Amino acid sequence: MLDFPEYTRLLYLVNENIEGFLPEVDVNSASLAESMRYSLRAGGKRIRPVLLLAACELAGGDSAEAIPYACALEYIHTYSLIHDDLPALDDDDTRRGAPSNHKVYGEAAAILAGDGLLSSAFEAMHRDILMYFDKPDRLKRRARAAYEISAACGCRGMVAGQVADIEAEDIDVSSELLDYIQVNKTAALIRAAVVAGGYLGGADAALIDSLRFYGEDLGLAFQIADDILDVTGDAEEMGKPTGNDAARRKATYPSVHGMDESREMLSGLTRAAIERITSYDRNAGFFTEIARALSVRVC
Ligand code: IPE
Ligand code: IPE
Ligand code: MG
Ligand code: MG
Ligand code: MG
Repeated sequence: MLDFPEYTRLLYLVNENIEGFLPEVDVNSASLAESMRYSLRAGGKRIRPVLLLAACELAGGDSAEAIPYACALEYIHTYSLIHDDLPALDDDDTRRGAPSNHKVYGEAAAILAGDGLLSSAFEAMHRDILMYFDKPDRLKRRARAAYEISAACGCRGMVAGQVADIEAEDIDVSSELLDYIQVNKTAALIRAAVVAGGYLGGADAALIDSLRFYGEDLGLAFQIADDILDVTGDAEEMGKPTGNDAARRKATYPSVHGMDESREMLSGLTRAAIERITSYDRNAGFFTEIARALSVRVC
């Protein structure tokens, strides 16, 4: 599915560096380092860091310089998955084809592994920023990228969406509330990936706008696909349980709009995302190809 050459090249760059921004943890807290690495090493598609690097290149930048931000984003995403699987949230026992973090290390350690990954993300970005005090233009790009990621993962983004998602269990939700949940819990981080990558690569305001719209549409499409796959997908192939959204009476696109309309929304958003970026996407159509590949998953 995501095996086209541009994706493979950027994925390699991410995977080669993914542990490089984790701090050394001393002997008295060695289990923290182990549990953080456990979830990072389990794999995952790495869509967010790959998108960040690709957007940096699209803007004309050097993706090597964007690696700390790409890894920070994957740390944040991985923390969100560890917490999302906890018994107090979605209570899922497998993730990325392996037992969920709390099934291996226990709930307390899993909560702290998430905390460790989240704080390491900010450490990685700020350590990079510290090196550019005498280069104001490059410093500004980095500060903007870090802000974009920070805002998207928190109370005006992913965390807000996760709260609304949990509170919407067992109740009938409006289509507006459903959009609020999904835009925040998932699309915000995907939008931040491409916008932060754009800033790091030196994108002008017009390209930043296009990337922002592209990221929003792609991010929402991504969560619709995830919701559809929870109904139709194969748990082994996805590396996580299926059917649990219905069991927990989650607010999902299939539960609110039905399967046919959800598929139509997915195709519409994929088309819209592609349209946002076509005029810039000269780079072998990476952004077009990834949008198509993600929506094809559910066909
Ligand atoms: C899963 O994200 C959680 C959602 C936001 C839908 P991914 O599908 O990107 O998970 P990994 O990183 O590949 O495991
Ligand atoms: C999770 O959404 C979004 C996050 C911020 C982690 P889901 O709960 O639908 O993700 P999966 O299906 O467990 O991967
Ligand atoms: Mg969830
Ligand atoms: Mg979940
Ligand atoms: Mg899901």
